[in-house]
Amino acid sequence: MKVDELNIEIRAHMLESEYAHKSPVFGEGKISAKIALVGEAPGGEEEKAGRPFVGKAGKNLTEFLSHLNLSRDEVYITNAVKLRPSKPSPKTGRELNRTPNLQEIEFFNPYLHRELEIIAPNYIVTLGNIPLRAVSGQDIKIGDCHGRLVKTPCAYENIFALYHPAAVIYNQSLKNIYINDLEKLRELIAKL
Ligand code: URA
Repeated sequence: MKVDELNIEIRAHMLESEYAHKSPVFGEGKISAKIALVGEAPGGEEEKAGRPFVGKAGKNLTEFLSHLNLSRDEVYITNAVKLRPSKPSPKTGRELNRTPNLQEIEFFNPYLHRELEIIAPNYIVTLGNIPLRAVSGQDIKIGDCHGRLVKTPCAYENIFALYHPAAVIYNQSLKNIYINDLEKLRELIAKL
């Protein structure tokens, strides 16, 4: 099966679910990529553009990739959840981004695994806790396993756990740790 066919299936399932009103944001990039990056979920900008990691998050991601000597078109980029989790602002009523809930994560989880099976990258780089748990199927914390390969009982022996690039912007104390983690990933990629 191809990713496009899988995306048709996801869209059809969403249309018959409570997420029918939501616009999906699918993965994109090189289908034969050696590296797949898995983020959390699209935000407002991604929903509008229909593409993952655009706007500010996209700028962060491009900077992060430059540390790995990679460009955006050399990797595959997706999210654990394919819709924008949102809630109305109590003040203005405008939709605000929020963290995906368990129901949203579970709805997309079988599709995420099938997507990663199709891409079959050498390394799946998870960005933050939500994709780490969604891909590994384990209740683990990024703080305990960042910067290394994560062994799991499921099919993937090649998950590399990183903090989400946005978390590093909001928490400067993570910056050195993050750069160190990126260096380890760069060494692994160089051996491919
Ligand atoms: N944009 C995405 O597509 N995913 C994230 O995890 C964050 C921003």
